[in-house]
Amino acid sequence: GSYKMNLAILASGSGSNFQALVDAQKKGYFKAKIKLLITDKEKAFVRKRADKFKIKHVFIDPKKFKSRVSFDKEVVKVLRREKIDFILLAGFMRIISPYFVRSYKNKIINIHPALLPLFKGTDAIKRALNSGAKATGVTVHFVDEKIDNGPIILQESIKIKANTKLKDLEKKIHSLEHKLYPQAVKLLLEKKVKIRGGKVSIF
Ligand code: GRF
Repeated sequence: GSYKMNLAILASGSGSNFQALVDAQKKGYFKAKIKLLITDKEKAFVRKRADKFKIKHVFIDPKKFKSRVSFDKEVVKVLRREKIDFILLAGFMRIISPYFVRSYKNKIINIHPALLPLFKGTDAIKRALNSGAKATGVTVHFVDEKIDNGPIILQESIKIKANTKLKDLEKKIHSLEHKLYPQAVKLLLEKKVKIRGGKVSIF
């Protein structure tokens, strides 16, 4: 169909979240076009997934840019050219510059495999498990100028039982991600998400 809103997904790896978003879109769970995938890794498996669904993908090679902001200027150029409305970070393993954040204010979303503001950064699932915490979870949030910060849109927890193995916790986290990310996108597209004073209200 022809939808008003265009989405771009930025990813660096396997792209299971990319897949979940594409599957949800195909089922008509939310109404928008997934128009573009941008990767910063030439060999990322997510590019094969995009090929399969005939979704345009662009690899932008960080080695070709002198600074973070010059890389991000190229990204923003591509996003503008493709008339992208919302940008979904899905395992995009790069820090986003303030230039990029300001270019798409409150239009960039991220998913993080922990209950933010806990366990920001990489290896969050493992660090949560090793901490002895009895629960962890998944957070979908707006991207601001700090890492894994920004107003929280959706968040759900998972209990950590005694002797839980990392592999099992990872599986649970990822399946929760695959449910939560499409939910957050649907709410956004339906304009049910409002930010006030750095906090999100869902209508
Ligand atoms: C996810 O766990 C996401 O929360 C984190 O990176 C991972 C990406 O996995 N930011 P995938 O590439 O979507 O399978």
